[in-house]
Amino acid sequence: MRIPRSCAFVLLVFSHVVASTASDEVFHNGGTGNCTGCHTTPPQLRGSDAGSTCLICHQAPLGVALPSKYFIATDVGSFSICVQLPPAGDFCWLKKTYKWSTSRGATEFSRGERHGHNIVAIDFGYEADSTHSFSPGGNYPSSSLTCISCHDPHGNYRRRADGSIGTSGPPVVASGSYPDSPDPTASASVGTYRLLCGRGYQPNSLPGTPPMASDPPAAIAPRVFNRSENAYATRVAYGSGMSEWCSNCHAQLNSSHSHPSGASAVLSEGIASNYNSYVRSGDLSGQRERSYNSMVPYELNTRDYAVLKSIAASADLKQSGPAGKENVMCLSCHRAHASGWDASTRWNMQSTYLVYEGTYPGTDNGAPVEYSLGRLSSEIQQTFYDRRATDFATFQRSLCNKCHLRD
Ligand code: HEC
Ligand code: HEC
Ligand code: HEC
Ligand code: HEC
Ligand code: HEC
Ligand code: HEC
Repeated sequence: MRIPRSCAFVLLVFSHVVASTASDEVFHNGGTGNCTGCHTTPPQLRGSDAGSTCLICHQAPLGVALPSKYFIATDVGSFSICVQLPPAGDFCWLKKTYKWSTSRGATEFSRGERHGHNIVAIDFGYEADSTHSFSPGGNYPSSSLTCISCHDPHGNYRRRADGSIGTSGPPVVASGSYPDSPDPTASASVGTYRLLCGRGYQPNSLPGTPPMASDPPAAIAPRVFNRSENAYATRVAYGSGMSEWCSNCHAQLNSSHSHPSGASAVLSEGIASNYNSYVRSGDLSGQRERSYNSMVPYELNTRDYAVLKSIAASADLKQSGPAGKENVMCLSCHRAHASGWDASTRWNMQSTYLVYEGTYPGTDNGAPVEYSLGRLSSEIQQTFYDRRATDFATFQRSLCNKCHLRD
C-alpha cells in the first residue's frame, strides 16, 4: 500500500476522532460537512481522489481492533482479518484473495476484486475492477466507481416534509438515517438515507457516468450499527426502494440472475410463514415474534418513517419477522459495499454446507476444501458478523432456505 500523501493530516484527524464518543461526533450531519474536512481549499481535495478523501476518516485507524463507529474499511497492513462489521460491509474484503486445490486437484480462486464494489481510492490501495468494465446489467464505468458514485459528498439530496427527495427546498438540519433523526418540516429537511444520491446525480469529476434515474431508498439504521452480532442482531429497518436504487446501475441484469426483487417481489404469506418457522437446517420451531435474522433481511414495503424508526430503535434481543406484505430486495442476498464471498453475497452461495460438523469450516480445522474455499474458520465467522457456529445446525445449509425451506 502507498503511504497516503496527507499522512500528517490523517493522524491529526484520527486522534481527534478516536478521542471523542460516538454521540458527540458530527461531521456531515446529513448535509455538507465542514469544507476543510475534505478540501484543503475547494475544489482541491485532501486525498489524491474522492475515495481516498473519504477513507481518511472512514478507514479504521491502526490499532482499532473491534468494529466501531462509522468505519467501513480495515487497514490490512495492521490486521490479517477484516474487522469492521457495518451493514454495508468492510471494503477490506476486496484485498483478500483466496486460493485452494479441489479434491480433483484443480486450483480455484476467489479473487479479492470479486468481493464487492471496487472503489477507486489510490492512497489506500483500492483500484478499479479489472474484469467488469461496466456495471453488470448497466453502463456505469468501473474506472469511475468510488464512494461519490453512490454517496453525495455535499449531502445536497434531502428528504422533505412531504417525503419527496431533491436537491432544493428547506436546508438540511440533520442526518435522516436514524431513529432519533428529526422529522422534516416546512422549514427544515433531513439528509437522505446514508447520504445516498438521487435522481439526476452525476459527479463532476467522474467522466462518463450516467445520471441516476431513481431516488434513494427509505430506510432507518440503529444508532449503533457497526458491532459484533454475536449477542444482538443489528437490524436496519429497510423500508422501500433499495432494489430500484441499485437498478440505477444494474437495470438489465440478464436472465441468469432472475430472482424477483423490489416492490413487487412480495414475500406472500407462505414465504413469510417459512421465514418465521425457520431457525436452522432441520429446526422449523421458530415463532414470528423472534424470527428476524439480519443475515437475511427484507424490506418492510413501506415509506412510513414512524414505523421504520420504531423498528430500528428496538432494543429487543430478538425481533419479529414478516407478516407477508414485505418484499425481497438486492440486500436480501448481497451487501452494498463488499463481503467475504464472490459477488458480495451475504453468505457462501457456492458450498452445500455453511457450518460443517458443528464448526465454521476453515483451512485451519481440517474441514473439506469445498466448504472452506481457502478461508480460515475465523474469517468465515466474520462473514456471519461474529455469530457462533452453534447458532446454526451441525450441518447448516444455505440461508436461501430461510424463505424457501429446501434443506
Ligand atoms: C465529505 C467530503 C466533502 C465535504 C465536507 C465538502 N466537499 Fe466539496 N467536494 C468533495 C468531493 C469528493 C468533490 C468532487 C465532487 C464531484 O466530482 O462531483 C467536491 C467538489 C467540490 C467543488 C467543485 C465543484 C463540484 O461540486 O464538483 C467545490 C466548489 C466544492 N466541493 C466546495 C465545497 C465547499 C464550499 C464545502 C463546504 C461548504 C465542501 N465542498 C465540503 C468533497 C467534499
Ligand atoms: C473529516 C472526517 C470525515 C470525512 C473526510 C468523511 N467523513 Fe463520512 N462521516 C464522518 C463522521 C464523523 C460520521 C458520523 C457523523 C455524521 O454522520 O455526521 C460520518 C458519517 C458518514 C455517513 C453516514 C451518514 C448518515 O447520515 O447516515 C456516510 C454515508 C459517510 N460518512 C460517507 C462519507 C463519504 C462518501 C465521504 C467522502 C466524500 C466521507 N464520508 C468523508 C467523518 C468523515
Ligand atoms: C453508481 C453505480 C452503481 C450502483 C448505484 C450500484 N452498483 Fe453494483 N456495480 C457497479 C459497478 C460499476 C460494478 C462493476 C465493478 C465492480 O464489480 O467493482 C458493480 C458490481 C456489482 C456486483 C458484482 C460484484 C463482483 O465483484 O462480482 C454486485 C453484486 C453489485 N454490483 C450489486 C449492487 C447492489 C446490491 C447495489 C445496491 C445496493 C448496487 N450494486 C448499486 C455500479 C453500481
Ligand atoms: C455501490 C454504491 C456504494 C458505494 C460505491 C459506496 N457505498 Fe457506502 N453505502 C451504500 C449503501 C447502499 C449503504 C447502506 C447499506 C445498508 O444499510 O445496508 C452504505 C452505507 C455506508 C455507510 C454507513 C455504514 C453502513 O454500513 O451502513 C458509510 C459510512 C458509507 N457507506 C461510506 C462509504 C465510503 C466511505 C465509500 C467509499 C470508500 C462508500 N461508502 C462507497 C452504497 C455505497
Ligand atoms: C435471492 C438472492 C439474490 C437477490 C435478491 C439478488 N441477487 Fe444478485 N446475485 C445472487 C447470487 C447467488 C449471485 C451469484 C453469486 C456468485 O457468483 O457466487 C448474484 C450475482 C450478482 C451480480 C454479479 C453478476 C455478474 O455478472 O458477475 C450482480 C451485479 C448482482 N447479483 C446484482 C444484484 C442486484 C442489483 C440485485 C437487486 C436488483 C440482486 N443482485 C438481487 C443472489 C441474489
Ligand atoms: C427474503 C426471502 C427470500 C430469500 C432469502 C430468497 N428468496 Fe427466492 N423467492 C422469494 C420470493 C418472495 C419469490 C417470489 C416467488 C414466490 O412467491 O414463490 C422467490 C422466488 C424464487 C424462485 C422462483 C423464481 C421465479 O422467477 O419465480 C427461485 C428459484 C428462488 N426464489 C431461489 C432462491 C435462491 C437460490 C435463494 C438464495 C440465493 C433465494 N431464492 C433466496 C423469496 C426469497
